[in-house]
Amino acid sequence: GESLAENHENFLKCLSLQSDTISKVIYTQNNSSYSSVLESSIQNLVYLAPTKPKPLFIITPFHVSEIQATVKCSKKYGLQIRVRSGGHDHDALSSVSYVPFIIVDLINFSEVSVDAEEKTAWVQSGATVGQLNYRIAEKSQNLLAFPVGTCPTVGVGGHLSGGGFGPLLRKYGAAADHVVDAHMIDVKGRFLNRESMGEDLFWAIRGGGGASFGIIVSWKINLVAVPSTVTVFAIPRTLEQNATKLLNKWQHIADRVHEDLFISPILFRMNSTMVSIFTSLFLGGIDRLLPLMQESFPELGLTKQDCKEMSFIESVVYLDGFGISESANVDVLLSRNFPKKSFKGKADYLTEPIPEEAFQGIYDIFFEEDEKTIGLLQFFPYGGKISEISEPEIPYPHRAGNIYTLLYFVDWGQDTTNEAFQRHDNMIKKLFNYTTPYVTKNPRSAYINYRDLDIGANSNEGPISVEEASVWGKKYFKNNFYRLVHVKTMVDPDNFFRNEQSIPPFRLVK
Ligand code: FDA
Repeated sequence: GESLAENHENFLKCLSLQSDTISKVIYTQNNSSYSSVLESSIQNLVYLAPTKPKPLFIITPFHVSEIQATVKCSKKYGLQIRVRSGGHDHDALSSVSYVPFIIVDLINFSEVSVDAEEKTAWVQSGATVGQLNYRIAEKSQNLLAFPVGTCPTVGVGGHLSGGGFGPLLRKYGAAADHVVDAHMIDVKGRFLNRESMGEDLFWAIRGGGGASFGIIVSWKINLVAVPSTVTVFAIPRTLEQNATKLLNKWQHIADRVHEDLFISPILFRMNSTMVSIFTSLFLGGIDRLLPLMQESFPELGLTKQDCKEMSFIESVVYLDGFGISESANVDVLLSRNFPKKSFKGKADYLTEPIPEEAFQGIYDIFFEEDEKTIGLLQFFPYGGKISEISEPEIPYPHRAGNIYTLLYFVDWGQDTTNEAFQRHDNMIKKLFNYTTPYVTKNPRSAYINYRDLDIGANSNEGPISVEEASVWGKKYFKNNFYRLVHVKTMVDPDNFFRNEQSIPPFRLVK
């Protein structure tokens, strides 16, 4: 047999035979830039700890032919591929694997070309949602947008292939709902577009998680209209200021108010109290917003002074957490350089409000923690467009009936030790256990873009049974899981593209 070193040499030889240009974009572990390339986009520092496995090679292709070569040679030499766009996967499946692997990092595929007249754009997977927002606003004089999430460095590749949603979800649904074409490389190294991949595979990559099906290079998206003036507000209310009653009321109106209105409370501990910041985007001016709030949520006591009118792109900067100071510059959306942290997150869906009296139990868990533990819950309202689209339309299935998504998030700076992870993970788990009676059941729904390996994972080696995978698969995809299995069986029957939560193929009897 061939030694490991020989195997790797042969892999590299294979690459250079397949592609004249690829040698310039291969980072071996001896390369002086290897670490900085590896660290460049991985968002969760937990997975950069020295104890975590590292890729044998990182490839940062500029050309489709280099991706094709990589797929062919990786398959031939038995190396697993992890595809990375923005590196925000919560459990870092784009950067870490427990079998010999390489990373294909799409940092150099980050073009955004907007056709404002046709109201479409082609965006490459390695672009960030911040860049995407910025370019659309720039080319459309702030009149077009795209319904993505709130964090400018999230990559288009993972975000669109997992669903993707943000403050426009009540008006326009999820990002993946607006994809109309895509370019990808399949397991045979073929370059495919919507027509040549066929409707089944095109369906699967819009929310089913791209990593199970191939490497998606770029996406054609339909843009959506936004008014020239939007309004934002962020109203903090502590327990003493009736936060609990307000949260409770919010649960009863958030999914029913006008679809132009998105109100998302963020709940966390502040010293000896809890605070809920009612954060909002309204697709219109203050004059229209105030009567709507008076009618549906008067208890919040919103005044004209609480509100600020701005362009849509400024609201993106604001809701991304950069504030609305006069100095907040939209150019911040183009940056990839923000301090990274260790974190853990989870997601739930609710079809009924949490009883008002049950909130105290949530607060108690925050109060048990060290004051410095920065955990938070974000309440993400449903209703409107996201709920009107039918469950089988795309793989993202959490639609009508949900009143909100609940996001659990805790971060803790630079400490990558297991001890720090356990302590914070424990807090999230306590919250997650506590809310069990109040969230969806059988199965408890989850969101693939809030990756959570606690809900179930494939083994790293050997065949994966569809039945076992359905434990986590149905949480993410409900019955769409089985169509995803069907697509996987057609396009990648040998399960080359795999990870801890990739869709398994049915095992064919040969
Ligand atoms: P990354 O590169 O890690 O990829 C994620 C997964 O997709 C991996 O399995 C990867 O292999 C695969 N993949 C990536 N590119 C691919 C490609 N081109 N072809 C095939 N497979 C590919 N979500 C949301 O809906 N709304 C929100 O507001 C936010 N906010 C947010 C804030 C922060 C701080 C974080 C860390 C995360 C979010 N998210 C979010 C979640 C985010 O949408 C999710 O993590 C995306 O999958 C990230 O996409 P990246 O390309 O950055 O991740």
